[in-house]
Parts: sequence; C-alpha cells; structure tokens
Amino acid sequence: NVYDVLVVGSANADLTVRVDRRPVAGETVLGTDLVESAGGKGANQAAAAARLGARTALLAKVGDDAFGELLLDGQRAAGTDVRHVRVEKGARTGTAMIVVGPDGDNTIVVSPGANARLSPADVAEAREAVAASAVVSLQLEIPPETVRAAVAVARETGARVVLNPSPAPSELAPGLLAAADPLVVNEHEARQLSGLAGGGPEDWARALRERGARSVVVTLGGDGALVLDAGPAAGRTTASGAGPGAGPATDEAVRVPGVRVEAVDTTGAGDAFTGALAARLARGASLAGAARYAVRVGAASVTRPGAQPSYPTEEELPDGPGSFA
Ligand code: RIB
Ligand code: NA
Repeated sequence: NVYDVLVVGSANADLTVRVDRRPVAGETVLGTDLVESAGGKGANQAAAAARLGARTALLAKVGDDAFGELLLDGQRAAGTDVRHVRVEKGARTGTAMIVVGPDGDNTIVVSPGANARLSPADVAEAREAVAASAVVSLQLEIPPETVRAAVAVARETGARVVLNPSPAPSELAPGLLAAADPLVVNEHEARQLSGLAGGGPEDWARALRERGARSVVVTLGGDGALVLDAGPAAGRTTASGAGPGAGPATDEAVRVPGVRVEAVDTTGAGDAFTGALAARLARGASLAGAARYAVRVGAASVTRPGAQPSYPTEEELPDGPGSFA
C-alpha cells in the first residue's frame, strides 16, 4: 500500500471562543478573543494519523479563500499528502463555530460550505488512492452519497473501513453499518444508533454489532474506550487485517482504561482517537491494541487548545495502558 490511511471527509476552519458560562436562548455572554485554527472531522483524523507518522492522504474539498489555505497549510505541516484536497472556486471553506466552556467541553455549529460539494465523482477520481490504502476512514460531515461511494470503492479494493458516524444521524444506512470495521462511536452516538436509551457501553456495542457493524469501539472520554471486535466466526480478508479466520478466539468486550490528564479543550479528541486508531490498524495492530494507543493520543489532544494544533507526535504521547500489540 502507498497509504496507511486515506481519510475521506470534511475540512473546517474552527472559530473558537471560550466562555465562563454558556448562554441560554436569547442571552448574550462575552467570551475570550477569537482563535482560528484548522479543524473538521476529516481533516482532523488525517492530521492525527500523519502527525503520528502514518502515511496519510486526505480527500476533501475547501473553498478558494483564506480558510482553505489554513486547512492546506495545516495538513502539509502534519505531513498529509494533500494532492486529493480539491479547491472549489467560488465556495467557502467549511466553518465551525465553537464555544468552549470552563470544563473544556464544547458545543459546535458547522456551516458545511465546500464540504457539501465533495461528490461521488470526486471519490471516483481518487479511486487509485483508495485502492492504494490499507484503511479508509470516514465521518459524516460530507454528503451521504459521497460516504457511500467511498465505502463502495473501499470494499472493491479491499481497504478496511473505519467509520465514525458523526454528526450522528437518526439512523445509519445498513450498507454503511455493515462496512464499518470498526464503527467508532461516542456515548451519544452509541445510544442514538443502537436505539438503547439505557444500558452501558457493552450493551450498545453488542446492539450495534447485531445491527450489522463488524466491530465496534465506544469512546468514553476520560474513561477510555470499550472495544468489541468482530465475532469469533468472522474472518478478515482485507489488505490490512490479518488473514481469513483471524477473528478473536473469544467474544469478550475489552475495556481500555482512560489516561488521566488535565483537560483544557476536548474539541477534536474523538477525531484524534479515530485517526490514531486507523493508523495503528493499518500497521496490523489488533483492534484492542490500536484502541489502547488511540486512547493515549486522544488524552494528549485534550491537554492543549484546539483540534489539529493540539495533536501529538509519537514522542509527545503520555504513558498509559497503550501498547502496539
Ligand atoms: O470533531 C471536532 C470537529 O468538529 C471540529 O474541528 C469542527 O470543525 C467540527 O467538524
Ligand atoms: Na485539544
């Protein structure tokens, strides 16, 4: 493979303001100075993987504006191959308006801009890049038909699909769910897509696998992650995974503990996790091993402000339960 990871997804300029207290509807509050930085779930995943040393490419669309330059510069700095980042004339680069509260948690409103113009035809044009990738990593900030097109090409070319269904739709197309190996969900997405109001991470993961996902990772913020790999009967025949019949011998969920850090900004932590997970899977790690590593990457990212500017290199990773096994 030429690439460990090809990310097909969104690129946004993040416009962030911190507040002491969130406004309620109809209220105005004053925040800090505005910070502009590179974000977008797709671009974030790519930056995370590339920064960690994975051979990474990004298929995305930006506008021919200053924010588009910001995004391209960010990817180049991280080491991503940007030949498939298209610059759309007359379009605005996607923009995310982010409010970070005192606890480091955020609320985000995204204006898709050029992301909405990433089309199945763009995927078709980048077919060779998909074919040359061990893992194709996807999220849902681009048109659903584009995500479906990327999944279809990945299946044809044998790339392993990592899918983070975010922002969470009310329902996920069965074809997307069936391609996900793994489906990476946070607690909110896990509840929403499993249809289980109650229960815990393992219940959600098993429900999602019953609904068709091949394997599931539930991210739990500071509490780490829950990993449910493909069932014992399932074999993997993708370019990246082990050979046929290599599903785990048991069907136990694995709980990956969190790494305790001081959280200043959780924006993009899930994207850092998923990018890192994809990078390790591409190099042949087990799902649980990749998740242990990804938990450390996500933890490092929350200790600094912003999404991409906060992503660590391998040397900057905190110790943790992580190993590459
Ligand atoms: O997941 C975090 C990201 O969501 C931000 O970078 C923002 O751009 C939105 O896409
Ligand atoms: Na951060």
